[in-house]
Amino acid sequence: MTLDRLDSTARAAGPTAGGALGGQAVRVVGASKTFNPGTRNSVDALVDITLDVAPGEFVSLIGPSGCGKSTLLRLIANLIEPTRGEVWVNDKPARQARIDQDYGMAFQQAGLFDWRTVVRNVELPLELKRWDKRKRRERAMEMLELVKLAEFASHRPWQLSGGMQQRVAIARSLAAAPALLLMDEPFGALDEMTREHMQVELLRICAETGTSVVFVTHSIPEAVFLSDRVVVMSPRPGQITEVVDIGLGHERTLDTREQPEFYARITDVREALRGVGGATDDELAIEKARRAAEER
Ligand SMILES: Nc1ncnc2c1ncn2[C@@H]1O[C@H](COP(=O)(O)OP(=O)(O)OP(=O)(O)O)[C@@H](O)[C@H]1O
Ligand SMILES: [Mg+2]
Repeated sequence: MTLDRLDSTARAAGPTAGGALGGQAVRVVGASKTFNPGTRNSVDALVDITLDVAPGEFVSLIGPSGCGKSTLLRLIANLIEPTRGEVWVNDKPARQARIDQDYGMAFQQAGLFDWRTVVRNVELPLELKRWDKRKRRERAMEMLELVKLAEFASHRPWQLSGGMQQRVAIARSLAAAPALLLMDEPFGALDEMTREHMQVELLRICAETGTSVVFVTHSIPEAVFLSDRVVVMSPRPGQITEVVDIGLGHERTLDTREQPEFYARITDVREALRGVGGATDDELAIEKARRAAEER
């Protein structure tokens, strides 16, 4: 299927080039987040984060567990407020962008509503935008075809596997053709083949629609394959320690994974992560296996 028919009104809500704020899809300026400030449970999660994401740009966040990646995504989504600093989305304060539903979100947990059918879960953001019934059913079915779940449209989420539920959540996040996608380890529950397929599909959709993405992952190859830039964060309190320009161009196919430049960028990100004491999925798995062997 193609997404040529994506609604132009969704695009019109996108950032205006050269606007007062520089036309960025996301602009985070000196943002810090302390949870439970002034109490015994006070946690400095993020310190002085400054980050711009250009329209159409794909930026991944990578860093050790607990470094504040999800917190940064939640700040951009205005699900929480920064303790200091500013967050802008589509040249508006993040709060306004949330009210205007300028972005789509997909999290590691699918977060589907069990009392709704699969197709009605995907329709939800379109209902909120008051699309008429026929149009939203048509779009939801297109999205389900995209994630290869059209035949499960009338199932309930609990009748699907974890990976299938995740694909429904991804379909839902794309349904309203948002100018910005915020994704928190969205492919974590998928098998390797499906994951690679979804990566290619996500890039295709973004290229067709000019969607900007902020994407959290623990996988270095995934970050490199998908991104224009990879933002490396330090352990808590999270700070941006390095931004790696990937420079593989927009055309990424399964062949991209065979190119020497792909491996060179993987090494760059791995070294940046090592510099902050971060561990990757692979390293965490090896460490876990080593400890289990020691305990035996
Ligand atoms: N609602 C909250 N209340 C208090 N502390 C919180 C809250 N949410 C997150 N934190 C703390 O903020 C820090 C950053 O958490 P966050 O979930 O952003 O990390 P992360 O980088 O996404 O980690 P992971 O890779 O494990 O998902 C952690 O120390 C966490 O305990
Ligand atoms: Mg997280």
